[in-house]
Amino acid sequence: MFASVAVQTAHAPNSGLPLAALACILARFPVLPAHGAVPRELTMASVNIDGRDYDLEAGQNLLHACLSQHLELPYFCWHPALGSVGSCRLCAVIEYADEADQRGRLQMACTLAVKPEGMRISIQAPFAADFRKQVIEWLMENHPHDCPVCEEGGECHLQDMTVMTGHSMRRYAGGKRTWRNQYLGPFLGHEMNRCITCYRCVRFYRDYAGGKDLEAFGSRARMFFGRQEDGVLESEFAGNLVEVCPTGVFTDKPFSKVYTRKWDLQSAPSVCPHCAVGCNTFPAERYGVLKRVHNRYHGEVNGYFLCDRGRFGSHFVNHPQRLRLSGVRGADGVFEAGGGVVALDAAAKMVAAAGEGELLGIGSPRASMEANFALKRLVGERNFCVGIADDEHETLDVALEIYRAGGFRVPSLTAIEQADAVLVLGEDIANTAPRMALAVRQAARGATFDMAQDVGIPTWQDAGVRGHAQAAKSPLFLATVASTRLDELATATRPGDVAELARVGFGIAHAIDADYPPGVEDEFAAAVAKCLLAAKQPLVIAGCEARSPALLRAAANVARALRGQGRDAALAIAGAEANSYGAALLGGGLSLTDALARMQGGDAAVVLENDLFRRAPAATVELGNSVVLDALQTPTVANAAVVLPAATYAEQTGTFVNYETRAQRFYQVFPAQGEVAPSSRWIAALAAHCGRDAEWSDAHALAAACAAAHDELAPLANLAPDANFRARANTRIPRQPHRYSGRTAMHADASVHEPKAPVDAETPLAYSMEGENAGDQPGALVPYVWAPGWNSNQSLFKFQQEVGGALAGGDPGVRLLPDRSAVPQAYPDVPDAARQDGAFTAVRVHHVFGSGELAAYSPPVLERAPAPFALLNRQDAARLGVTHGGGVRIEELGSTMQAHLDDGVAEGVVAIAQGLPDAPLLTHGIVHLAADADFVPRQSGDPKLIAKG
Ligand code: FES
Repeated sequence: MFASVAVQTAHAPNSGLPLAALACILARFPVLPAHGAVPRELTMASVNIDGRDYDLEAGQNLLHACLSQHLELPYFCWHPALGSVGSCRLCAVIEYADEADQRGRLQMACTLAVKPEGMRISIQAPFAADFRKQVIEWLMENHPHDCPVCEEGGECHLQDMTVMTGHSMRRYAGGKRTWRNQYLGPFLGHEMNRCITCYRCVRFYRDYAGGKDLEAFGSRARMFFGRQEDGVLESEFAGNLVEVCPTGVFTDKPFSKVYTRKWDLQSAPSVCPHCAVGCNTFPAERYGVLKRVHNRYHGEVNGYFLCDRGRFGSHFVNHPQRLRLSGVRGADGVFEAGGGVVALDAAAKMVAAAGEGELLGIGSPRASMEANFALKRLVGERNFCVGIADDEHETLDVALEIYRAGGFRVPSLTAIEQADAVLVLGEDIANTAPRMALAVRQAARGATFDMAQDVGIPTWQDAGVRGHAQAAKSPLFLATVASTRLDELATATRPGDVAELARVGFGIAHAIDADYPPGVEDEFAAAVAKCLLAAKQPLVIAGCEARSPALLRAAANVARALRGQGRDAALAIAGAEANSYGAALLGGGLSLTDALARMQGGDAAVVLENDLFRRAPAATVELGNSVVLDALQTPTVANAAVVLPAATYAEQTGTFVNYETRAQRFYQVFPAQGEVAPSSRWIAALAAHCGRDAEWSDAHALAAACAAAHDELAPLANLAPDANFRARANTRIPRQPHRYSGRTAMHADASVHEPKAPVDAETPLAYSMEGENAGDQPGALVPYVWAPGWNSNQSLFKFQQEVGGALAGGDPGVRLLPDRSAVPQAYPDVPDAARQDGAFTAVRVHHVFGSGELAAYSPPVLERAPAPFALLNRQDAARLGVTHGGGVRIEELGSTMQAHLDDGVAEGVVAIAQGLPDAPLLTHGIVHLAADADFVPRQSGDPKLIAKG
């Protein structure tokens, strides 16, 4: 019965086509290898540029090739990830026909391919230089020249290019075109008068990230870049416009409220704490306030872009509810802030009273490897729990088991972009791993590159590729519990509950190789199998948010079946939190259920950066005998006996392990203030108070101890250079740019004497502007990008081996579990269907804004978070009398949620949002629903969700 329901509801995206029509579509569908499927064969050409010979890659665009040689060639509209459109005319050079040619002709370097037979070029020829100067002059005609009050000032590509081209005198005396700016939501400010019409914003927002609500309006010299009307920019990648725009049209609105010039910001290399993708970031600080987060380029992970949860989610660091004092709960139940020593004494007494071997430790997937390891060492293996709900922990263990056994590649995001056919099984990555979804968008575009190459259009010629290939797409199949933002790209989608989707996965594997156990055999499974088999680099993506080991086993079977058929198959399994994989690799002897049962029995516990009420029913959480370390005043903190204020990721050095099991070091951006300290230091102090041996001199030594204790974690010992590493001229690497100002004045309210800079004894970085950030140090140690003449983030190319390639000192991080090519046995156990007549199968869904715990404490992200919602099929809703936006009561949870109608949800299934503020914890697999006529809808911060359905 369920199979027939599923077939009826499965559809091709946007068209509403039943799967019966899918075969026709697939018959016509061009199954092409992706643009990266064939290794790039490099042909080098000798190019003479201003009298000097360079070996440049033949076929590459000349601008890209020149910048890879670190030559100073101005540009605007070209972007290494977006390609060339040749619209700004700033990258003009002279190309000479031959040695005898004295005049040459003007060419735009970004549209000119390096010729295999060689070329003679001039960047400095007076005619080219003068042309570029004139281009800037006319682009600046309408620019307001408001650099002193512009937030881009000091890191503005337009400023840099103006200086570089020599345009220093404004001759234009006429009136300037002016615009009314728009409200674009809590993330971005808008100042259209600064626009120079480079089109980068709409090219990124629409063409690269798939956004719909930003457009170029107008014609000729009156072009407006914005929304049709005021409103929140919908794309979860909109924040990248701050860095993509070469001037100050799109600005970081939360940063505007606490604004500091770039040169006065202190920053360090870091890793995003908001999901398991592991994007590299530059958080920046001034006055003890985390001001903003910018993208930190990583050639294999996030490249040039972040999602908005990563960019705007870190304002939790400045939250008014930051826990900044330690406290001991008195007899009256009220916390007394007695100071760290008093709290440590109280904690030590609890530890001592617990007796040797009886103290529990509950770790956390959002805490660093080092902090988790320190706690595990304090309490011992058998008393340590990684702090993940049992079903999620079991799923993560299966993910690790699958990775360890191998039979496929585990792809980086760059490798995901190269896939030529993709199956996403059971995970809404647009909400749980947004940057991964952006990579899948690029994979779906692979077919356009191949079509262009077939007719001789280079892949970097963006306008040409899009004009020729139009909307052609590589195969993308989505089998998910609800509709997703990737559906618009999908060849076909397949709804179902989690067990059903796992059965579909088994069916696909069986269709690829009949030796694999059979699952659901329908048109969707057959079509997916056909397309994946036709690909050279097929990719399967699954994830842990569904908390279904069966789903992961099905995904593994598909990838391994493909490998068995000779395909270079890849499998990525998304995790939930920044260090979910690290915590699972560390492991522990206790499940969360067992740990909570012991705490209810009176055992003392140390809880590390973990709000247990997000992971277990409130009735099972007893914290009366617990010491809680955290950075925020969570419900767990509110119920603890002793609380110790923990540093956030920006105030400590540590390690996260991402979905690839790539361990990456993040560095302290600014020292923790007052009593706040990294959790590992609190744990070491607690151990010392109790007379136990758990002292580590610094984060590096702690990582080394962790590496020595676990074979699989051995690479942590050498993940990044230790504190003795010195950059050029035997200097430390400065967290502050060399123009950092106000070191005396910024503390003048306390003392007119400049305070001594904090000493960083555990890393090679310094809280100083002295030292050198030349870019040739190891990639893990680049705290910001800047180069002479290049004050904006466009200076990045000076820090890369080649444009778009690895960082000059190598991309950071080490994979802990290497790929294994041998194909192991297939998983044999196909799950049964999980429906119950008269009831609904409950599944979990997430929202990019609000479902992440830490980001929900960030005010701009919270503003985008929707009210708790449940997704229902239209037919089910009609039967229940539930309307879109109305209330649906979930009896087993004792809760009413806002109903959203979603035809991507199968009949008999209800998708319940998890992690949102005030959202109930999903504790039942089968639930009963009823319309709630008394429900008063709470205003959602995200109008798009209300509009949906
Ligand atoms: Fe070449 Fe704009 S960068 S025309």
